[in-house]
Amino acid sequence: MALTFPQGFPQTRLRRPRMAEWSRRLVAETRLSPSDFIWAIVLRAGRGEREPVASMPGVERLSVDEAVKAAREAKSLGIPALALFPFTGKADRSADAKEALNPDNLMCQAARAIKDAVPEIGLMADVALDPYTDHGHDGLMKDGVILNDETVDMLVEQALVEARAGFDIIAPSDMMDGRIGAIRRGLDSEGLMDVQIMSYAAKYASGFYGPYRDAIGSSGVLKGDKRTYQMDPANSDEALREVALDIAEGADSVMVKPALAYLDIIRRVKETFAMPTFAFQVSGEYAMIMAAAQNGWIDGERIMMETLLSIRRAGANGVITYFAQKAAKILND
Ligand code: PBG
Repeated sequence: MALTFPQGFPQTRLRRPRMAEWSRRLVAETRLSPSDFIWAIVLRAGRGEREPVASMPGVERLSVDEAVKAAREAKSLGIPALALFPFTGKADRSADAKEALNPDNLMCQAARAIKDAVPEIGLMADVALDPYTDHGHDGLMKDGVILNDETVDMLVEQALVEARAGFDIIAPSDMMDGRIGAIRRGLDSEGLMDVQIMSYAAKYASGFYGPYRDAIGSSGVLKGDKRTYQMDPANSDEALREVALDIAEGADSVMVKPALAYLDIIRRVKETFAMPTFAFQVSGEYAMIMAAAQNGWIDGERIMMETLLSIRRAGANGVITYFAQKAAKILND
């Protein structure tokens, strides 16, 4: 857009509309609301349990009954949906990740309990095998290689188990090729055509996931890294190809992950495809803000709001974030 100004300074003074709070509000181009957030929540076993995650100050692993309370709070704060992730101990991890297909696993228990208590809250399920494998990878492994097609077969089954438990949005975060189409066909053939798919379409092999692996019990478990399936942070065109394929395969919405270091990708994806586009402000982004704030080096609340706004300004319709509750409270005040 080539706009030209008829006159320069001093007729034009860009500071003029910035002078008063009322005026700054009128000219603000981007606004945040609790409706922009999907609240990321980590589950654990037990009852009445809230267990702090050391590397994510303020985030606790919640037992199912506590997750139900969080869902009630989300509803009253105006947060539309929760994204659930399970902490899994060594006992429930195996090479074949069979706990992923257990219709009574932690994720499914939580979905049933939350849908029972707060049916109007949207529930998003991560689809990937990393909480359940004994090597911490998102797929099945043979001779050190992550098997694509065998993994996709399992992801379809995992998605069906989650959808039947009540999840509204299936969110594959595994980055296997072809999984969106396979999951769509699987859901449709089981009469689950109204279950949405939000694809982690452009998901980068990122150091920002460190604290999450601690949160779900994968750190110390993960062997090697995820560079054979997650994207190279150097690439941007490739993100568009990933997104294009996932849309062609039936994704209802797409995600870029992480968020803050990938605002350019969010912008390109939104402008290229005009799809509902989401970004995941991941565990490391959360941890960095909280750690610096705890040291008194930054104003944590201010930077929380600034980063969320930046992600929206870049083009995201919404943000998956561990800050959802905190930010919504501020916005509601
Ligand atoms: C795994 C998964 C990851 C996250 C969501 N799903 C981590 C990974 O790929 O290793 C990251 C979330 C976060 O860091 O907050 N399928």
